[in-house]
Order: sequence, then structure tokens, then C-alpha cells
Amino acid sequence: MMSLLEVKNLHVNIGGKEILKGINLTVNAGEIHAVMGPNGNGKSTLAMVIAGKDGYEITHGEILYKGKNLFSLSVEERAAEGLFVGFQYPVEIPGVSMAAFMRAAINEQRKYRGLDPVNTLEFAGLMEEKKKIVDLSENLAGRAVNEGFSGGEKKKNEIFQMAVLEPTLAILDETDSGLDIDALRTVASGINKLRTPQNAFIIVTHYQRLLDYVVPDIVHVLAGGRIIRTGDKSLALELEKKGYDWIDEDRHLYG
Ligand SMILES: Nc1ncnc2c1ncn2[C@@H]1O[C@H](COP(=O)(O)OP(=O)(O)OP(=O)(O)O)[C@@H](O)[C@H]1O
Ligand SMILES: [Mg+2]
Repeated sequence: MMSLLEVKNLHVNIGGKEILKGINLTVNAGEIHAVMGPNGNGKSTLAMVIAGKDGYEITHGEILYKGKNLFSLSVEERAAEGLFVGFQYPVEIPGVSMAAFMRAAINEQRKYRGLDPVNTLEFAGLMEEKKKIVDLSENLAGRAVNEGFSGGEKKKNEIFQMAVLEPTLAILDETDSGLDIDALRTVASGINKLRTPQNAFIIVTHYQRLLDYVVPDIVHVLAGGRIIRTGDKSLALELEKKGYDWIDEDRHLYG
């Protein structure tokens, strides 16, 4: 089995404070991982570091993505290599239409792979096909990226972007938060449609609900900057019932 992501003893500071305190995580092709855990314990920080956002000081450890040192790849190279990170709070890009943004992203990827830019007809076809996956309305694609999108529209849009880019590894940070029941099902079925034996997903979520539709192979609990428990999907059910305290009883890892 090919491992797509290997996080090894990762320590990360923000503003001099240690937030991630030795994360170990291996994600293989074909797997869906869920990352759960209490608020403010480092889940988004891990996603941000993998995405290559500024402001995070890596003090120790390494991340291999498809066997390469992730930190030696620029943000653009990471995307071109098939890494996709959907953020908890998607950014708005005023003045840039969704269509123009997606076309630029596709062309960036194609350039990296030595391909010509996508032609207009091909691009229109691709947008049509992918819009169906998340039920995205015609008019969202014509609007500026995320500008004035409702919370749920932003999240659906995230899945749309993912569908267009067909990533090898997708990290979705609370894609389910703020979704109504129908949108949740749509988003989940979008993820299931995009799933192949060659790609993998890391889904950060607070709720078991999404995991009824997108069944994870492995569930992790991230607390106090560490993964304190790993299990199968029954762990998510157990957390839903009992909360997090029971795991931490004798460890005191929080904070
Ligand atoms: N830019 C920043 N400046 C200062 N502190 C930060 C910054 N980003 C994150 N932190 C702190 O790092 C800790 C971990 O935050 P993170 O966003 O990773 O948590 P989380 O597990 O994703 O929480 P949630 O479930 O609420 O989304 C928190 O204490 C947060 O306040
Ligand atoms: Mg978060």
C-alpha cells in the first residue's frame, strides 16, 4: 500500500507557543481518515501547516507527501502535486469569478504537469460535469469566489473546487459545519463519488453525523496538540455518546 502522507513527530509553534506537540499520522491511498477533537486543540493548525500557510513555525519533525519532503514544496507545487485543503473559514476573493479562479487553478496544475492550458469548450464541459456533483447553482459559478456566499454555499463550493481539481489527498476542515441535512448529504455523496483507491481524504469534523454518510476507515482524536487515540468508526460513535473527557482521564494532555 502506498502511503500518501506521513507526518512524523511534528511540533509547531504559533507566536512562540507550542500548538502541535508531536503529531504522528500516516494516510495511505484509498483511506478516509476522520480527525475529531475538542475546540482549540490543533486540528486546523495541522491542516494549515500541510497547506503551507504562513505564520506557523515548524520546530521539529517532518511531513512526507508522496514520499517527498512537503516543506520543500511551495504552496503552488503542493496543489499541482494533488494536495487540496478546504479551510474551516474559506477565503473570499472579491473581483475574481469562480470560473476564472478555477480555470487559473486548473491551468496551474496542467502547466506543472507539462500540459497545455485547458481550452474554453473543455473547461465549460468540466464545470458542467462537476457542478452536478454538488448541485451548485449556475449563478454561484459566475459570482466572485465566496463573496457573499452563505455558510453552506461556501462549504458546497469547497467540494466543487475539490471535484474540479481531483486531488490525490484532500483535507476538509469542518466541511459539514453549518450545512443543512440535504446539503450534508450532497456534500457527503460528492466526497463518496470522488473517492478512488488511489486517493485519500482527511476529514476534520465535530460530528458523527457526516461519518454516517462518509464512512471513515480510521478515526483520530487530536487533543492537546497530539493524537491521543486512534480507532475505527466506532470511536466516533463512542465520542458522540461520551464526549472527550473519558479518553483524557489519566493523561491530562489538554491545553
Ligand atoms: N494565528 C494564531 N494566532 C494565535 N493563536 C492561534 C492562531 N491560530 C491558532 N491559534 C491557537 O492555536 C490553538 C489551536 O487552534 P486550531 O485552530 O488549530 O484549533 P482546532 O482544533 O481547529 O479548533 P476548532 O475545533 O475550534 O476549529 C488555539 O488555542 C488557537 O487559539
Ligand atoms: Mg478548527
